[in-house]
Amino acid sequence: LWVVRGSPPTYVLLWGIILNTAMGCFLRIFKDVETNCSIYTLWLQARQVCGIIHRAATSWNLSYFVSKWASVWETYAKVVKHMQQQTEKKVMLSGIKPSGDLTLGSYLGAIKNWAARAEEFECYYFMADLHSITVRQNPADLRRRTLEQLAQYIACGLDPEKNTLFIQSHVHQHAELGWVLNCYAMFGELSRMTQFKDKASKNADNINGGLFTYPSLMAADILLYQPDYVPVGEDQKQHVELTRNIVQRFNGIYGDVFKMPEPYIPKVGARIMSLTNPEAKMSKSENEDTGRVCLMDDPAVIMKQFKRAITDSDRENCVRYDPEHKPGVANLMNIYAAVTGKSYADIEREFDGQGYGVFKPAVGEAVVECLRPIREEATRMMADKAYLESVYRAGAEKASRVAQKTLRKVYKKVGFVAL
Ligand code: TYM
Repeated sequence: LWVVRGSPPTYVLLWGIILNTAMGCFLRIFKDVETNCSIYTLWLQARQVCGIIHRAATSWNLSYFVSKWASVWETYAKVVKHMQQQTEKKVMLSGIKPSGDLTLGSYLGAIKNWAARAEEFECYYFMADLHSITVRQNPADLRRRTLEQLAQYIACGLDPEKNTLFIQSHVHQHAELGWVLNCYAMFGELSRMTQFKDKASKNADNINGGLFTYPSLMAADILLYQPDYVPVGEDQKQHVELTRNIVQRFNGIYGDVFKMPEPYIPKVGARIMSLTNPEAKMSKSENEDTGRVCLMDDPAVIMKQFKRAITDSDRENCVRYDPEHKPGVANLMNIYAAVTGKSYADIEREFDGQGYGVFKPAVGEAVVECLRPIREEATRMMADKAYLESVYRAGAEKASRVAQKTLRKVYKKVGFVAL
């Protein structure tokens, strides 16, 4: 003020006193407000800034002000960060490999929990095509399934205006950060991944490097967007845990670079098993699972699958939730609960005294009705390729912007020369 207005130092002194008094009054008024109340915290921080200005002014010591400038700046950064935290939405991110047609498992375990989150969270969902090629794919099928998957995401309620929907290979930062994180994921950790062991045993003639380092790419997918939550089915929890280990290791060396993500696993539907083998997860790969139901299946096909679903060989023939002794029935109950929102107790009551012959078609019908609008909307959208292209182009643009910000930071931290 003194510099700008050419006023005598007393003006500065006066301003310091006025500001500090005003703030004192304000703090007194808001004294009873919880200390974590944002406005209160903000004022406390602002008061620190004014305290420094005041002291500099009262002692008329410019060097004091200069010496404290760093602390003023730090406080300002804190205030801005705090305000951002208050106003910014939390971030959610997830993806699915287009390695097979989407199944009821992918829907109930993942997508169903993504829809309707867009108001509360900033959401990113993608087609994980880079991950798909860890197992050999027919190129034409992979292209078709990737677009179909986008249409199905939208048909499941993911509004592209409110969610960022994109194809992983369109955002080159995934592969780049994936490489960096490979150097921070340990051989032992990667060897322990259940999915790697499982896939390696099923593809003995193609145990490639990508299959092994898959979790580092998945960590990159996640960390590029600094999400708070990663909504996945039970089988992906281990990969999210590994991502958390990488965050801890990386941040331990370079400071606060990545936000720690949390897996977000649904209470019902997190693990949908095959209808023909209730010991195995319902899988997207045709050659792995004959007991699967796909989102685009005809109602007649779905009904047939449920009617021939394996129930248990006990003599009881009664609908009771007992995953240990009656895994087939428990799986059907899990599906029915996830689709209708009923509890296991409600379901037991509903089918009390009726056998599996009534229960199985009832589950089939509930699933048909749940998937019908999705199938119809996705079919309609598949005919509109121009619309799908506009969605994935806009998604890639937005995702790249966010991803580049994180990648730039990482490159700087690890010591790459900026171009
Ligand atoms: P993927 O493609 O195998 O499965 C996609 C999502 O569907 C869930 N899911 C199931 N949930 C319940 N029961 C089932 N039978 C079932 N089958 C699949 C999975 O848990 C998953 O949430 N690596 C991931 C894809 C991925 C990813 C990511 C996910 C790549 N990058 C980053 C989250 C964040 C995968 O193979 O999912």
